[in-house]
Amino acid sequence: MVHNHSLFRGLSGLTLLFLFALALAAPSPTSETSINTTDYLIVGGGPAGLVIAEQLTRNPHIRVVLLEAGPDSSLDPIVTTPAEFFNAYPYFWNFSSAPDPALDGRTPELNQGRALGGGSAVNGMGYCRGASSVFDEWAHVSGNPGLSWKSMLEAFKATTHFQEDVHPEDQTAVNMTSFGDGPLEITTQRFQLGFDKPFVNKLLFELDVPEIDFCSGDGIGVTEQVDAIRADNRTRSYAWNTFGWLAAARSNFEVRHDAWVSKIGFHGKTANSVTYNNTLTNSMHTINAHEIIVAAGAIGSPQLLMLSGIGPEGQLKALGVPVVLNAPQVGQNLIDHHTAQLVYETVPAMGTTWQWQLNITAAQEAEEEYSANGGGLLGVPDGNVFAAFRLPDAVFDGLGSYHTSLPADRPHFIYEYTTAPFQTQFSNRTTITPFVALVQPEARGNVTLASADYRDQPIINSAYWGTPADKAAILYAYKKYRAFFATPELQPWVPVELFPGADITSDDGLWAAIQESSGSFHHPMGTVAIGSVLDTNWRVRGVQGLRVVGSPAAPSIITCHTQATAYALGYRAAKDIAVADGI
Ligand SMILES: Cc1cc2nc3c(=O)[nH]c(=O)nc-3n(C[C@H](O)[C@H](O)[C@H](O)COP(=O)(O)OP(=O)(O)OC[C@H]3O[C@@H](n4cnc5c(N)ncnc54)[C@H](O)[C@@H]3O)c2cc1C
Ligand SMILES: *[C@@H]1O[C@H](CO)[C@@H](O)[C@H](O)[C@H]1NC(C)=O
Ligand SMILES: *[C@@H]1O[C@H](CO)[C@@H](O)[C@H](O)[C@H]1NC(C)=O
Ligand SMILES: *[C@@H]1O[C@H](CO)[C@@H](O)[C@H](O)[C@H]1NC(C)=O
Ligand SMILES: *[C@@H]1O[C@H](CO)[C@@H](O)[C@H](O)[C@H]1NC(C)=O
Ligand SMILES: *[C@@H]1O[C@H](CO)[C@@H](O)[C@H](O)[C@H]1NC(C)=O
Ligand SMILES: *[C@@H]1O[C@H](CO)[C@@H](O)[C@H](O)[C@H]1NC(C)=O
Ligand SMILES: *[C@@H]1O[C@H](CO)[C@@H](O)[C@H](O)[C@H]1NC(C)=O
Repeated sequence: MVHNHSLFRGLSGLTLLFLFALALAAPSPTSETSINTTDYLIVGGGPAGLVIAEQLTRNPHIRVVLLEAGPDSSLDPIVTTPAEFFNAYPYFWNFSSAPDPALDGRTPELNQGRALGGGSAVNGMGYCRGASSVFDEWAHVSGNPGLSWKSMLEAFKATTHFQEDVHPEDQTAVNMTSFGDGPLEITTQRFQLGFDKPFVNKLLFELDVPEIDFCSGDGIGVTEQVDAIRADNRTRSYAWNTFGWLAAARSNFEVRHDAWVSKIGFHGKTANSVTYNNTLTNSMHTINAHEIIVAAGAIGSPQLLMLSGIGPEGQLKALGVPVVLNAPQVGQNLIDHHTAQLVYETVPAMGTTWQWQLNITAAQEAEEEYSANGGGLLGVPDGNVFAAFRLPDAVFDGLGSYHTSLPADRPHFIYEYTTAPFQTQFSNRTTITPFVALVQPEARGNVTLASADYRDQPIINSAYWGTPADKAAILYAYKKYRAFFATPELQPWVPVELFPGADITSDDGLWAAIQESSGSFHHPMGTVAIGSVLDTNWRVRGVQGLRVVGSPAAPSIITCHTQATAYALGYRAAKDIAVADGI
C-alpha cells in the first residue's frame, strides 16, 4: 500500500511542524550516561517490550534498560490523532517484501512501527483477539500452558480497561467482562459512518454469520470493533503512553530512544551485552546485561539474532557473520495477513475520514470539532466494521486439507474497509477501499539477512497466496466481496467502481487485480517461535541469557488484528520470567 498524502500535509503542515518541534524538544525521560550494566536489557519498545518493562520494574531491586531505535513521538499529532494514522511514515521501518513470484515479482511494503510504542504508535488502533482455538493450539505446541485461551484471557484483561465514550452518539454494546483494570484504554467509536449500518447488514445476511464480540474468544462473525483510543479526548492509547510512562516514572528503569541496536554480544554461549548506535550523536555504545530480552518485532528480532550469530549456519558463514549457534529455524515460519483491495467512489453522504481533505472549509470544521472535544471525523481511525468468515469446503477440493481441517472457530478471511485512499491515483476523489485479508494462510515465508551490516534491510519472503489452496481462496473471496458492492443495498453508497473497474470480469483479469493490489495487513508473526527456536520460557534454546518475546515468538498467526495479542504475550512472558528467575 502506498502512502502519499500531500493534500493532508498541505492543509495542516504548519500546525504539525509546530507540534512536532515541541515533541523533539521535549526532554527524554532519562540521561544517556548513567548505566553501563543492567539486570535486564530489553531491545524494542513496542507493546511486548513495554509491558515487560512495566512488569519487571515493579520490583525495585531489578534494574531494567530498554533500547528503542525510533524516537519519542508521543506529542506528534500524526501519532495522537486517530484519523492521521495513515500519515505515520516518519515512524516506519520502510520494509518491503522481496520480489514475490505469486505477484509477478512485485514487492509490497511491509512497514513496521519505529518509535516508542512500536507498531502501537502507528497502527490503526483496532483491538480484537479472535478465535480462542489458536491460543489453545499455542499452549499445546509450545508446552507453555500460559498460552491457552483461558490464561491469555487473563492477560488480555490485565493489560486493558474499557472506558465508555464521554460524548456518545450511537454506541455499540460491549461485553465489559472482556476487560480488566490494566493500563491500555479501549473504547468504542463515538459515532458510525453512514455506510456502516448497511454494510453490517449486508455482511450478516450474505455471510450468514452472527454479530459477535471479537474480544471474548469467538472467531467467526461481524463486529463494529473497539479501539485503543482514550475515550475522553479521542487520542491514541498505546504502549508508550500507558505501560511505558508507568515504567518511566520508576528510578529502576531507563529508556533510551534513538538507540538502534546492531548486535548482541556473547561470552561463549552466554549473551552478555548489547551494542547500539545513538543515532542522534552517531556514536556506538555497549551495555552489559545479565539477561537480554529481544522484543524487536517479527522482522527486527530474527534480523538481530542472525546479525549476532544465531541463525542458519550456512547463510551466516556465507555473509561473514561469526556463528554463535546454528539455529536454522530463526527467521523461518513468517506468517502475515495479506490483503487484496477494491476501490469505490462514494457519495458525499458517506462522510469519510478523508473527504474533508478535499475541501478547505470542511477541513477547518473538522479540526475545530476535534480540538473542541475530540469529536468529528478526526477522532475516527478508520472504517471500523469487519466480518470474519469461513469459505465452503468445496473451494478447496483437490487442494489439500489445510484450510478445511482448521478448527471450526477459525475464519479463513476478514472483509473490512478503509476510508483512507490506499491507492494514491484516486486520492483526489472520495473513496472507500474494501479489502479482503487471508487470516489463516497455509504458506509460510521467511526473513534472512541481506548482509552482515545491521543497517541493511533483511530479505523478507512474504509468500503471498503461496500455495494453490491460498490462491484459490483469495480468488473466491475477492469475487464474492466485489459482488456485495453491486447489490441494491450497497451500490447507492458506492456508485463507481474505480478498481479493478467494471470492465474486468474474467478470472484472469481479477487475479491480475489481486496481484496488483496485494499488500500487508501489517500483522507479521512467528519468526522466532516458542516451542521451536524458543523453549517454554521464551529462552533461545542452545544459549544462555537471551529471550525473545512478542509477535516473533507466536507459533502461528491469530485470526484478527494482532496488537491485543502482542500486549498479552508480553504480559505472559513477564510472568514466566519472574517465576523462572525468582524475582
Ligand atoms: C501500519 C500498521 C498498522 C497496524 N494496524 C493494527 C490495528 O489496527 N490493530 C492491531 O491490532 N494491530 C495492528 N498492527 C499490528 C500491531 O501494531 C503489532 O502486532 C504489534 O505492534 C506488535 O508488537 P511487538 O511488540 O511484537 O512489536 P513492534 O510493535 O513491532 O515493536 C518492536 C519495536 O522494536 C524496535 N526495534 C526493532 N529493531 C530494533 C533494533 N535493532 N534496535 C532497537 N529497536 C529495534 C522497533 O522500532 C519497534 O519499536 C498494525 C501494525 C502496523 C505496522
Ligand atoms: C521511512 O520513510 C519515511 C518517508 O516516507 C521517512 O520519513 C522515514 O524516515 C523512513 N524511515 C527510516 C527508518 O528511514
Ligand atoms: C463476555 O466475554 C467473556 C470473555 O471475554 C465471555 O466468557 C462471555 O461469554 C461473554 N459474554 C457474552 C454475553 O458474550
Ligand atoms: C488527552 O487526554 C490525555 C489524558 O487522558 C492527556 O494525557 C493528553 O495530553 C490529551 N491529549 C490531547 C491532545 O488533548
Ligand atoms: C548510526 O546511525 C546513523 C543514522 O541512521 C547512520 O547514518 C550511521 O551510519 C550509523 N553509524 C554507525 C557507526 O553505524
Ligand atoms: C465543503 O464543506 C462545506 C462544509 O462542510 C460544505 O458546506 C460545502 O458544500 C463543501 N463544498 C463542496 C464543494 O463540497
Ligand atoms: C482526479 O484526477 C484525475 C487524473 O489526475 C482526473 O482525470 C479526474 O478528473 C480527477 N477527479 C476529480 C474528481 O477531480
Ligand atoms: C525463503 O522463502 C523463499 C520463498 O518461499 C524460498 O524460495 C527460500 O528458499 C526460503 N529461504 C530459506 C532460507 O528458507
